[in-house]
Amino acid sequence: MVRRIETGLKTEIIGKKIVHHNEAKSSQEIAKGLARGGAEEGTIVIVETQTGGKGRRDRRWFSPKGGLYISIIFRPEESPSRSSIFSFLGGVGVAESIQELYGIEAELKWPNDIQIGSKKVGGVLIENLTEKDRLKWMIMGIGLNVNIDISSLPEEFGYTATSLKRETGDRVSKLKLTRKLVEKLDQLYFILKGEGVDEILSKWRQMTNTIGSQVQIKNGDVIEGRALDVDKDGSLLVELGNGELRRINAGDVSLRKIS
Ligand code: BTN
Repeated sequence: MVRRIETGLKTEIIGKKIVHHNEAKSSQEIAKGLARGGAEEGTIVIVETQTGGKGRRDRRWFSPKGGLYISIIFRPEESPSRSSIFSFLGGVGVAESIQELYGIEAELKWPNDIQIGSKKVGGVLIENLTEKDRLKWMIMGIGLNVNIDISSLPEEFGYTATSLKRETGDRVSKLKLTRKLVEKLDQLYFILKGEGVDEILSKWRQMTNTIGSQVQIKNGDVIEGRALDVDKDGSLLVELGNGELRRINAGDVSLRKIS
């Protein structure tokens, strides 16, 4: 499997080292262990099925066989407050890969969801370690429902989830998709390092379905308003009904589009 991904892979950083497991608790945990042990930037961990897949906000990420579960180690120069940009970078990488391989328009829902027709097909989880106000390492975890029967997901997820198999009407090559995604992420990381955050944000803005929508946000309180934009730290700027502007940090919030 590793050799099949590596063969002819056109990347500078990402995927120079690939670790593969048929089953593990979570690719994220393996990648963190490797990062702590000094693994080089660009190391990726791919797991075929996870028994303890992690989603955002301490949720479980159901990880049956047929999905893509990948974690990538970054050692960026960015300040820790910029780590959300990696969530956008991951989302753009997935959406562009889906568009180029299957001609399907995937949309990005703030902060980290990848959707097709308002149903979630994947998500990005960013975890990092900071030391003396610098990022020591960051792990980008991506979970994608590839060749999954949605009926195999628990009911509450099934209603709001989709898979590439369902959207394309057939099984797709996970190998091709993995290679495309790794190459995309590599290119986008170069764009981030060269042209900076604005270029990634502008790509994200073109693919998001959040900006311009009426949204409800829960993080203890519940607020409603119109999503106006995101800033360089990945926060969402929301205009409340009374005209007040609120900056919402991606941290621990859930967002629902109302219209
Ligand atoms: C989300 O909540 O939407 C983010 C889901 C991220 C899941 C991926 S699968 C690969 C990596 N390993 C994990 O345990 N989680 C991430």
